[in-house]
Amino acid sequence: MHPAIRKDAVAVITGAAVGIGYAIAERMAREEMKLVLSDKNIPALTEAIRRLRAKFPGLAIHPVIGDVTSETVQAQLHQTAVSTGEVGILINNAAILSGAGPWEKMTQWRSLMEVNFWALLMLQEKFIPTMSQQPCHSAIVNLGSKEGITTPPGNAAYSVSKAAVRILTEQLSHELREKVADKISAHLLIPGYTFTPMNFPGTTFDSVKPDAPWRADQVAERMVAGMNAGDFYIFCEDNEVSRELDQRRMQWSADDLIHNRPALSRWHPDWKQQFAEFIKGA
Ligand SMILES: NC(=O)c1ccc[n+]([C@@H]2O[C@H](COP(=O)([O-])OP(=O)(O)OC[C@H]3O[C@@H](n4cnc5c(N)ncnc54)[C@H](O)[C@@H]3O)[C@@H](O)[C@H]2O)c1
Repeated sequence: MHPAIRKDAVAVITGAAVGIGYAIAERMAREEMKLVLSDKNIPALTEAIRRLRAKFPGLAIHPVIGDVTSETVQAQLHQTAVSTGEVGILINNAAILSGAGPWEKMTQWRSLMEVNFWALLMLQEKFIPTMSQQPCHSAIVNLGSKEGITTPPGNAAYSVSKAAVRILTEQLSHELREKVADKISAHLLIPGYTFTPMNFPGTTFDSVKPDAPWRADQVAERMVAGMNAGDFYIFCEDNEVSRELDQRRMQWSADDLIHNRPALSRWHPDWKQQFAEFIKGA
């Protein structure tokens, strides 16, 4: 097991009430980590904690209720984690998906960037000094998205936020390697299409999953496997998009710059045929 994931160390997870955050909480509970779980959705977090307590009796679970963009909540999260024990892992998972195009809905842009980017950066600022002073290994996992890599049109604010998280986490990984060697590792978890309330509003723990998406617990399992393998980019496929197809899509996106094609040529009518041929065989 990756050294940051260990019995009695603290796992801090934002947006832990449902979806991928909850699945990671369960996976960390299986490793007997102490949990500090944050979410703004009080009924959902209460239900999540009830489920975890039923499945893992005696496990230490500390809720921090509130909006992760609030500096008070960020401070509470940090304080609760530090007073619970040695911090093993911080999972920056909370995010929102709200449509906002390149020249509209500035209020939505700001609130999305506050959750998806700024809160994550603020928590890094709080937790890295703590982690640096601990004798043991620790890790930060930031939630990216394929939308932050191939940046499909239609949801500019979300894509920008996830591209920012990717670059920030790459920079973080490099700086940590230079400054603290392998004491703190950084990882970018990149889920595929996953069956969560983000994609399926109203979904509960008992809802029936359609075929295409992965279950959230598959993402959590892939996170652990990726960390164990020492991966920085922890990629998830889903039941419709293979690893090979993802690789071709990423290659095409990178080639837009290299071959001086139009922006987002994958979705440009003049390039449709060439893209389809490039993808064939993936
Ligand atoms: N579901 C997917 O297919 C998918 C794909 C790629 C990336 N991701 C990323 O994975 C992460 C988890 O996604 P999910 O699908 O489980 O999301 P979700 O919407 O199902 O759950 C997110 C949780 O975060 C909480 N949250 C949102 N904003 C918050 C805030 N301001 N303060 C506190 N809590 C807040 C919500 O209450 C919710 O409990 C996100 O970062 C998302 O961008 C998801």
